[in-house]
Amino acid sequence: MKKLYFGSNLKMYKGVRETEKYLKKLAENTQNISREEIELFIIPSYTALPAAVRCSDCNDIVIGAQNMCWEDQGQFTGEISPCMLEELGVKLVMIGHSERRHVFGESDAEENKKVRSALAHGFRTLLCVGETAEEKEYGISAEILRKQLKIGFYGVDPKESKNIWVAYEPVWSIGVNGVPATSEYAQRMHMEIKKVLFEIFGNQAEKIPVLYGGSVNPENADQLIVQSAIDGLFVGRSAWNADEFDKLIRSAVYTYKQYW
Ligand code: PGA
Repeated sequence: MKKLYFGSNLKMYKGVRETEKYLKKLAENTQNISREEIELFIIPSYTALPAAVRCSDCNDIVIGAQNMCWEDQGQFTGEISPCMLEELGVKLVMIGHSERRHVFGESDAEENKKVRSALAHGFRTLLCVGETAEEKEYGISAEILRKQLKIGFYGVDPKESKNIWVAYEPVWSIGVNGVPATSEYAQRMHMEIKKVLFEIFGNQAEKIPVLYGGSVNPENADQLIVQSAIDGLFVGRSAWNADEFDKLIRSAVYTYKQYW
């Protein structure tokens, strides 16, 4: 069975104590799900990162950062350097989440600088891509994904593929006003993404998991996970309760095994 990826970005919601509580509960709930079968990761707020990394019961949960500056140090007020994340023991960095791109105006070229820096520092690097509703309406979703991937991974050595993850998160599907993508549409876009990754990285691209995110919920998770080009689920709201997330993961793994 291929390894399935499950993770959640806690955005700007849980503080230190809440994150600790959540992680402990999630670790306890999921402890008997084999880590040969799944990779579980959580991306808390910056302020909760030290506590999250120290959480000794949570060794089976990879902890990631929500963003990162591309420079090691310098005159970058308000930014967090890769060295600072390394010092904490963070293993994963997410780059280019839809809210970074669309609320904070980050460009593909900036995401590329961050991706290259994160890989140079040895982080598992999760690049998020996805088209807006308008781009979908114009029928240019595949072109947008191609642009985000080609620029995002520009200059990256194929040898780095082992540390690269990609999340497909259509902007129109994310958050309270989001409409979840159908499993057919998500599968189609994941195939496009895999095609472009193959163009960039050749055979090494096979190692890169591509996760779907955007209004994943207990109703659509099973349908999504059985799609051949979907390697995992990147969940927001439906993951922020540890019991609910555990149930969603178990159901998805069970369904995947039945299907394949
Ligand atoms: P959502 O968030 O599942 O709440 O739509 C997804 C995301 O932003 O990663």
